[in-house]
Amino acid sequence: MSMSVPHDYGMEAEVWDAYAASAFDGAAEARFRWTQYEGHGPGIEVLGESPRRTLELGCGTGRAVGYLAGLGVEAHGLDLSGVMVAKVRERWPRGRFYQGEVLGFLGSHEETYDAVYSVFGCAWFADPRLLFPLVRARLRDGGVFAFSQPPAIPGAYGAQGMYKGGFAGRPLYTYRYSYPPDTWAELLRAAGFGEVSVQIVDAPVAGHWGTLLATAVR
Ligand SMILES: C[S@@+](CC[C@H](N)C(=O)[O-])C[C@H]1O[C@@H](n2cnc3c(N)ncnc32)[C@H](O)[C@@H]1O
Repeated sequence: MSMSVPHDYGMEAEVWDAYAASAFDGAAEARFRWTQYEGHGPGIEVLGESPRRTLELGCGTGRAVGYLAGLGVEAHGLDLSGVMVAKVRERWPRGRFYQGEVLGFLGSHEETYDAVYSVFGCAWFADPRLLFPLVRARLRDGGVFAFSQPPAIPGAYGAQGMYKGGFAGRPLYTYRYSYPPDTWAELLRAAGFGEVSVQIVDAPVAGHWGTLLATAVR
């Protein structure tokens, strides 16, 4: 189990602003995909039956929000990067976007959702012991929490420091959280979720990185 690490969200916002500048030229197409492989893995059915209001945590390019909004869902997205949020507001005018750090944001947010989800997003970058109870509080009864991310590197569990921009100059870094599936399941149950499932979706090519996919219900 991890000890808490000293997040510096001002610096992390800088890290993700740099990512936003390189990862999104403002022209992304709408799509909803849990895995890192084109046309692979489950789709929006993971979010439960006909969700009407959804919230994506760490929405990045906003493609999934844009996809859901295009289906008529009231689709919301949160991201730490102000650079990213400015771009996605312009690209996906039917989505609703918030800029903020996930723990602080959820702690004061009052809306409730049919589904809260994260795709390689901030369920990977925030301490699950703090995040999961806050997510549960923003779901209606029966609402679904789902997230995906790469599986842990074997043996490297808990908060993992990630360098950004090399090892010379001003230190820039963030943290991601990695655990084996059983530990993710325990963390979800400890936060009060039921119907917990945490699995590794196999890659389309045998022996390549799969995708960790977790679902749980309030
Ligand atoms: C790898 S990207 C997500 C990619 C996204 N699924 C997409 O399709 O573009 C991770 C995102 O999480 C956001 N993020 C990281 N830590 C966060 C935090 N503590 N609070 C809110 N957002 C955070 C980053 O700004 C970044 O845009």
